Amino acid sequence: MIHIPKAEYIRRRKALMAQMVPNSIAILPAAAVAIRNRDVEHVYRQDSDFQYLSGFPEPEAVIVLMPGRQHGEYVLFCRERNAERELWDGLRAGTEGAVRDFGADDAFPITDIDDILPGLIEGRDRVYSAMGSNAEFDRHLMEWINVIRSKAHLGAQPPNEFVALDHLLHDMRLYKSAAEVKVMREAARISCAAHVRAMQASRAGLHEFSLEAELDYEFRKGGAKMPAYGSIVAAGRNSCILHYQQNDALLKDGDLVLIDAGCEIDCYASDITRTWPVNGKFSPEQKAIYEIVLASQEAAFAQIAPNKHWNQAHEATVQVITAGLVRLGLLQGDVDELIASEAYKPFYMHRAGHWLGMDVHDVGEYKVGGEWRVLEVGMALTVEPGIYISPDNQNVAKKWRGIGVRIEDDVVVTKQGCEILTGGVPKAVAEIEALMAAAR
Ligand code: GLY
Ligand code: MN
Ligand code: MN
Repeated sequence: MIHIPKAEYIRRRKALMAQMVPNSIAILPAAAVAIRNRDVEHVYRQDSDFQYLSGFPEPEAVIVLMPGRQHGEYVLFCRERNAERELWDGLRAGTEGAVRDFGADDAFPITDIDDILPGLIEGRDRVYSAMGSNAEFDRHLMEWINVIRSKAHLGAQPPNEFVALDHLLHDMRLYKSAAEVKVMREAARISCAAHVRAMQASRAGLHEFSLEAELDYEFRKGGAKMPAYGSIVAAGRNSCILHYQQNDALLKDGDLVLIDAGCEIDCYASDITRTWPVNGKFSPEQKAIYEIVLASQEAAFAQIAPNKHWNQAHEATVQVITAGLVRLGLLQGDVDELIASEAYKPFYMHRAGHWLGMDVHDVGEYKVGGEWRVLEVGMALTVEPGIYISPDNQNVAKKWRGIGVRIEDDVVVTKQGCEILTGGVPKAVAEIEALMAAAR
């Protein structure tokens, strides 16, 4: 299995600690287990920031980083080994495993955190934490601080600065290393295979969930534990619902099906959309819309390179889509004026992409100092233009209504431009039709 190597976690912790002010401490909790119902839990997914710094896959754990500390800069609180619990629920690293396998300088049972952590915080000037994202943890943190405050008369020194960790950590996460790109390529490769399989399986009379099953099969077979987000399998007019997830409608002859789905490998997402005809052959209207979306995506790729700013790719898609809608008679008027008045928005209401990484809509600022961010090598993003003609749009001829097309690929900015990670699934009309014909 392709995964993030241990050395990378060490490098990340060092890089973060190098940016922390002297005599400070960073504290991050693992994701809590989410209950599905009664005693059934949702599949556990580690918190992305926690995973980024530790690779430690268990709940009930807390990372503590203390740059410059003589007796170890990285302390991990975690669950102890427990034969009974491990018999029922699976193996635990325990404190020994945390040191031996996960690079902690020291590890303590999570049950001892109230006794130990105030002592680690005491005397440090600044605390970095993910303030505001975990109310329960915020409350614990304040309790630990209050323990120190209550001992001030004995000479204990509580910290007086509390700083959000996100700013430092999320900027680090925005720049993908070679190891991260390798994992993202693997997630993309598996997701491409899943889309190809769903295209090949597509038939009128099946249901949207039939194709979702094909996706899930490839995801799991490829080693992915889960999709990176709820798969969207949207046939016919459902393709005009951007985050459709019902996935239970019939696939009908003559309809398009839009699939937006990607798996996650070692907590790195892929995010692919393809749209194809259920019966394997685009109608003239479907093809006309599809070709515009595809051309707009090509125009966007040309705007993704170092020193281009974040919005240039989006602007390129708006230009091509608006001009295309005018050409087809779906919009009337001057293209520049239609862009200025945002007349394209009833057809194209979302942006051309987002950062991609451990979270499908990944962390990282889109603007810096009020200006769109300039792209740099290692940034990963999606390129996902679309045209959606509402089934209820009375301003267009009936033949166009209910057509929804999105094409989405994942890219990483390189020195020369960008690398498309998701090229392994066809998207030219002729390629899709050929692939589907061969599967009939
Ligand atoms: N799958 C959600 C998105 O494309 O942003
Ligand atoms: Mn998507
Ligand atoms: Mn996306």
